Amino acid sequence: MWRLGAACLLLLVLCSQTKADYQIGVGISDATGPASGVIFMGYAKLTQRGYGLHLRQWSRAFIIDDGTNRIVFVSVDTGMVGYGIKEAVIENLSASYGDIYNVQNVIISGTHTHSTPGGFMEHLLFDITILGHVKQTFEGLVEGITQSIINAHESMVTGKIYINRGELLDANINRSPASYLNRGELLDANINRSPASYLLNPEAEREQYEHDVDKEMVQLKFVNSDDEIIGAINWFPVHPVSMNNTNGYITSDNVGYASILLEKELNDGAFPGQGSVVTAFASTNLGDVSPNIAGPICTNTGLACDVTTSTCEGEAQFCIASGPGEDMFESTKIIAERMYSKALELLNDNAAVEVTGAVSAINQFVDMPEQSATYTLGNGTTITGAGCNAAMGYSFAAGTTDGPGEFGFTQGTTSNDFFWDIVRDLLAPPTEEDIECQLPKPILLATGQMVEPYDWHPRVVSTQLALIGNVAIAAVPGEFSTMAGRRLKNVIKSAMGSSDATVIIAGLSNHYTHYITTYEEYQLQRYEGASTIYGPHTLGIYLQQYGKLTQALVSGTTLDPGPAPYVFDRDKLFSLVFPVILDHPDLDKKYGSVLSQPPSSVSAGSVVTATFVAGHPRNSLMHGSTFLRVERKVDDEWVLVANDAVWETKYTWGRTFIAASEGTIEWTVPDDVVSGTYRIRHFGAAKSLLGRVASYQGISREFEVRNNRIDEDGAGRENVPMFAVIVFSVFLTLSQRLQY
Ligand SMILES: *[C@@H]1O[C@H](CO)[C@@H](O)[C@H](O)[C@H]1NC(C)=O
Ligand SMILES: *[C@@H]1O[C@H](CO)[C@@H](O)[C@H](O)[C@H]1NC(C)=O
Ligand SMILES: *[C@@H]1O[C@H](CO)[C@@H](O)[C@H](O)[C@H]1NC(C)=O
Repeated sequence: MWRLGAACLLLLVLCSQTKADYQIGVGISDATGPASGVIFMGYAKLTQRGYGLHLRQWSRAFIIDDGTNRIVFVSVDTGMVGYGIKEAVIENLSASYGDIYNVQNVIISGTHTHSTPGGFMEHLLFDITILGHVKQTFEGLVEGITQSIINAHESMVTGKIYINRGELLDANINRSPASYLNRGELLDANINRSPASYLLNPEAEREQYEHDVDKEMVQLKFVNSDDEIIGAINWFPVHPVSMNNTNGYITSDNVGYASILLEKELNDGAFPGQGSVVTAFASTNLGDVSPNIAGPICTNTGLACDVTTSTCEGEAQFCIASGPGEDMFESTKIIAERMYSKALELLNDNAAVEVTGAVSAINQFVDMPEQSATYTLGNGTTITGAGCNAAMGYSFAAGTTDGPGEFGFTQGTTSNDFFWDIVRDLLAPPTEEDIECQLPKPILLATGQMVEPYDWHPRVVSTQLALIGNVAIAAVPGEFSTMAGRRLKNVIKSAMGSSDATVIIAGLSNHYTHYITTYEEYQLQRYEGASTIYGPHTLGIYLQQYGKLTQALVSGTTLDPGPAPYVFDRDKLFSLVFPVILDHPDLDKKYGSVLSQPPSSVSAGSVVTATFVAGHPRNSLMHGSTFLRVERKVDDEWVLVANDAVWETKYTWGRTFIAASEGTIEWTVPDDVVSGTYRIRHFGAAKSLLGRVASYQGISREFEVRNNRIDEDGAGRENVPMFAVIVFSVFLTLSQRLQY
């Protein structure tokens, strides 16, 4: 022992380096939900029902162990996670690993994509917009998350961690909320969608920050002992709502596609989910942050919306934000590419700082309405306030400029409506105390009183914090607004007592409780304030609570676990989402028969489609598999060119008659395609009247693909400044519709 000590004294540098080594594991697994027939989670729009697949849902897991303690961080392509998901994952893991993975050290964070199937949340308010609980979505997520952690566990190697940061900025940084219409060159990836609320934070506080959203991407990079990158987690605040509420394709949206792009780059072009390097773009303080950076305009008049209420002539449904692309697919791609480019730049940047020091984690459950907190407002004034029974305000039903609601509600509403109050009271009337506590929020749904047949909203929520050296990851149960997130980071950082500490907000983790705005933002009662469910002091309570968690970890003390969260009987959850009863093809057809063949010859840039007789996609989640393969003939072998997880393909499903259905496969032939003979294959499963599910497949005819661009000039098409073309055409289109 003394020898080691002596050696350490002599070789201080070497020893401190050894100390920085962690055991690190990364893993990815398929968590895709039922690919048709289930309503999506996010926009709360009953007509947004899935009809196919564009991008699969992936769960990405990262395990970090310092030799004493271990933490797991999971980012999963889903709207959010409920505590039932975390419970089931831990229970599944315990079969193989005992209590290595537990409530304290596992963080599960949803990316917040609004285009994946719902029904996995248990609390009734969240599942009711899906028409009830969907066991298949729940199990698909649990299985995918569990498997990603198992994959990470099995890949553990000795390695190091680096932290880096950089801003993803607009060239036109002076763009103020009021001048969204003056688009100029939109080069960034996020804007504030409730600038009027943000402006209620005191000026002195706002002046400490250059923008009304955080523009910084924070990155943890994981390398093995040969300094090769094995994974990365990137946190950049933006809602994954580039795909709007008319979309019915499952997709991981902008952040999910950014992950796919970065993983493809680092895995030598491997198909999604199949490379060893895993990179997540995880959610953070994205509460008031939109990717639709061309900003909101009135789709009926072409004029600017009212800034405070986001309405057009009094109506919310016409005030819609979009851009920067011509359509939602292009917008998704552009935002993803910007995040991917920034992350790649940070990965290759030597300014990254090595993270050293111990790993620790803590979780405490908190009964929110029972809390009171003394905390500091934006102007430095200290106040004391208490939590309220959960309630949604009127403006919740107004939706946002990323997806307005449909019943004539508007944002910024602070008064009640006689008719809706009657409807509300039929469900559950709020108490006088609830009404008083939530002011100035007019209560539309007194969810804290809605406990039949079981809880509609969480009351006891998870608060969790992890430390890796002087990096803190605060796993929060909802969507913090930009300024709410900044205040939380400041509180945690000061409790850490280290000026070079970094605090990361891991959004939508473990529990979901909608939004958390500042006390000042809450007063305006826009969508985010109306959805801050425990009342005006919700943030104050979290500031106090995460300060307490930080002190506990820093001082090495333990906290009591807190009250147990509500327990659901998973077999008794309300559901009107019925299983597939039967598939049956038209009498003269078989599953997999081709109904429409691809053209005999196509060229790069065109879209090839083939339609097959299909079974209902809900018969199988097809995890680790695919609904389609695009293949090229190479020496009499068929080589995989594209599957259902890549950007270039889409699988669309629909019923054609009572039990008959068809599946259409679409492949956008990429610009760098290799000329040759191709075919499209479809895979699926169908259910017989006796309930037996059998898989089938179909094959299209062969077709020729010509790539004149590559064939003719050898080097392929020059990299035209595509981006400039897009920006210019968006600008042209929009400027035609606008009046200044
Ligand atoms: C984990 O639990 C879910 C249901 O809670 C189940 O469907 C799944 O097969 C289990 N096993 C694994 C390895 O995920
Ligand atoms: C959604 O995006 C499409 C373009 O991809 C557009 O035509 C449609 O109007 C948008 N709808 C909403 C409600 O934003
Ligand atoms: C600080 O802000 C709060 C909330 O906006 C306000 O009520 C209070 O008067 C302010 N205090 C000072 C000293 O300006």
